[in-house]
Amino acid sequence: GTVVIGEGELDEAPMLFIGEKVGAKGGFKVDIAVDPLEGTTLCAKNMPGAIATIAIAEEGTLLHAPDIYMDKIAVGPGYPKNVVDLDAPADENIRNLAKAKGVKPSAITAMILDRPRHADVIAAVRKAGASVSLITDGDVAAVIHTAEPDKTGIDIFLGIGGAPEGVLAAAALRCIGGQMQSRLVVDTEERRVRVAKMGIKDPRKKYQIEDMVRGDCLFAATGVTDGRMLEGVKFRDDIVETQTVVMRSVTGT
Ligand code: FBP
Repeated sequence: GTVVIGEGELDEAPMLFIGEKVGAKGGFKVDIAVDPLEGTTLCAKNMPGAIATIAIAEEGTLLHAPDIYMDKIAVGPGYPKNVVDLDAPADENIRNLAKAKGVKPSAITAMILDRPRHADVIAAVRKAGASVSLITDGDVAAVIHTAEPDKTGIDIFLGIGGAPEGVLAAAALRCIGGQMQSRLVVDTEERRVRVAKMGIKDPRKKYQIEDMVRGDCLFAATGVTDGRMLEGVKFRDDIVETQTVVMRSVTGT
């Protein structure tokens, strides 16, 4: 396997760096995207939602994204293709999603990272009449929440988070169903060079989920702290209990 999304770029991370080869070197060749601790601050503060997560796909099928920001939009399954659009204003996306769901915008909830950079998006979502659910961290789980709005109460994820997290979330959505669009935020020369180093020719490319994960994949997440999706690690007397979800795109398992 080759780590294509990992703990950092070559020479910067001691292990699981981008480009690192792992495994017994026999059999099927795979790309690996891994975030051993998604929600570092959540874990440090024992707040809900920290997970350990990994996606595995056939060699050459996962987007090789550097650790920069990515603009993302995601909704769950069952909507017409491109019901929402990364380049449309947030209020328009809320209205289109509500129409497709057959509800009023006030019945839609958008999950957004609580960051000053999202002030305009948050205002636009509220202007459309929808609810905003702000999170301090952890947008992989936030995207996954959109796949089960009846259970999670989350219909859409919007905003800018990490690109590695974007690829992991895309892998999960490919398994459970849903739509996602994204674009790397390449706003400095240094980032442009890092993006080019990853072999990305068009830094402004708008990715569909199929561009980020181009084939079948497996996705797994284990709870570190308790969250909406998974229970966290439980230290019992003589055992440690963890909860993991494993998904497979080819079967929809
Ligand atoms: P880390 O675990 O790497 O700290 O990532 C947490 C996270 O909240 C991600 O889920 C999200 O994509 C990213 O950070 C957002 O970045 P920032 O904290 O710089 O806004």
